[in-house]
Amino acid sequence: MKKHVYLRTFGCQMNVRDSEVVAGLMKKAGFALTDDETKAGIVIFMTCSVRQHAEDKVWSEIGRISKPGRKNRGAGSVRPVIGLIGCMAQNYRERVFERAPSVDFVVGPADIDKIPGIVKKILEHRSVSKQACGLFDLKIWETDGLGRPEHIYHTGFYEEKGHAYAVISEGCSNFCTYCIVPYVRGPVRHRNAQDIIDEINKAVAGGITRFTLLGQNVNSYRSPDPLNGKPVDFVSLLKHVNRIEGVEEIGFITSHPRDTTPRLFEAMAEFDKVRKYLHLPVQSGSDRILRAMNRGYTRQEYLKLAREYRRIVKGGILTTDIIVGFPGETKEDFCLTRDIVRDTEFDAAYIFKYSPRPNTQAEMMGDDVPRSEKERRHKVILDLQRAISRAKKEALLNSESNL
Ligand code: SAH
Ligand code: SF4
Ligand code: F3S
Repeated sequence: MKKHVYLRTFGCQMNVRDSEVVAGLMKKAGFALTDDETKAGIVIFMTCSVRQHAEDKVWSEIGRISKPGRKNRGAGSVRPVIGLIGCMAQNYRERVFERAPSVDFVVGPADIDKIPGIVKKILEHRSVSKQACGLFDLKIWETDGLGRPEHIYHTGFYEEKGHAYAVISEGCSNFCTYCIVPYVRGPVRHRNAQDIIDEINKAVAGGITRFTLLGQNVNSYRSPDPLNGKPVDFVSLLKHVNRIEGVEEIGFITSHPRDTTPRLFEAMAEFDKVRKYLHLPVQSGSDRILRAMNRGYTRQEYLKLAREYRRIVKGGILTTDIIVGFPGETKEDFCLTRDIVRDTEFDAAYIFKYSPRPNTQAEMMGDDVPRSEKERRHKVILDLQRAISRAKKEALLNSESNL
């Protein structure tokens, strides 16, 4: 009988794609996937470390699943094999086993190709040690990988029917001072343009028509051109993908304002398949805070980009991310962020309360905005953005009813 795997995903689209890759690799290795946790002999958590809250959810889920006496038909009388993979694995490494002794394996983002082999090893060990009245559990961790082999992107397993994510770069070297991603995902590595195009062609052959290109900062993309070996940047990559027959829609996330230029907007307006959607995280409206965050642009530069986008990409959607309560953020700094939200009229904004992350530069700056004040600032922006989104929706409905 095939062993069933239950895979639960937390975090960003990068993790959603990584989970598809892990699911594809597990299937290839002879395992079956299940949506029913109680049927699973293997439970894997694909995890996120971006804020404390994201980690807390995973610790509590592991606690729930490891409770003694919990029924898990898939694993028989023993508890399922439990794996913690993704960004938290890299953040905690073998310390996971101290904090959650029921976890059997820990695998970082650069080592996901090793997961099927690790699971097999643990299952074998369990069956042998059962016969020998097993004295100890086998614990395995892999967190030292430098990169992923290209072939893992080609399992052909996609969660959605008509849509696929295509990773164009792994990791990040921007080191925004609040952010853990460069530490858990490693330095930026761009995938070869030809490999990306091959992956998309294969997905098209499998019936997929819509694609989202993924990277922490897609606009910093660089790779040799498949046609002439000259360097290609993100706009040229978009052009290549736009030309692939069978591709109907192309989106991309995330754009970093420092590396985004009006040339991208012109390409968005020109290439028929590219979605008119831009996620351009501003994080803060205060130059002082932007500098402390190491974002590499000013308030004025951001506003200029947003204006250019609206002028060039007619009717384009613009969304953003905001952090409130960064160390040292005064009421004046916060008001500048509020004003940017009011004046830019984003279609949507994702608002986060600053959460100190281990090893980051901001962690050393102290977390000096009280929680209640972070909550107040969060609510001010949330209410403001909700009113803007509502007004935009109504204006759209009105303009449609006047047609
Ligand atoms: N590479 C992307 C996404 C990074 S994580 C980018 O640069 O936009 C997604 C969002 O989480 C970030 O844009 C930021 O707003 C938020 N974030 C990251 N670290 C955070 C932290 N320590 N506390 C609160 N929010 C954080
Ligand atoms: Fe984090 Fe900044 Fe990289 Fe985004 S660009 S992943 S916020 S370090
Ligand atoms: Fe979280 Fe890792 Fe993505 S920390 S936001 S899952 S890159």
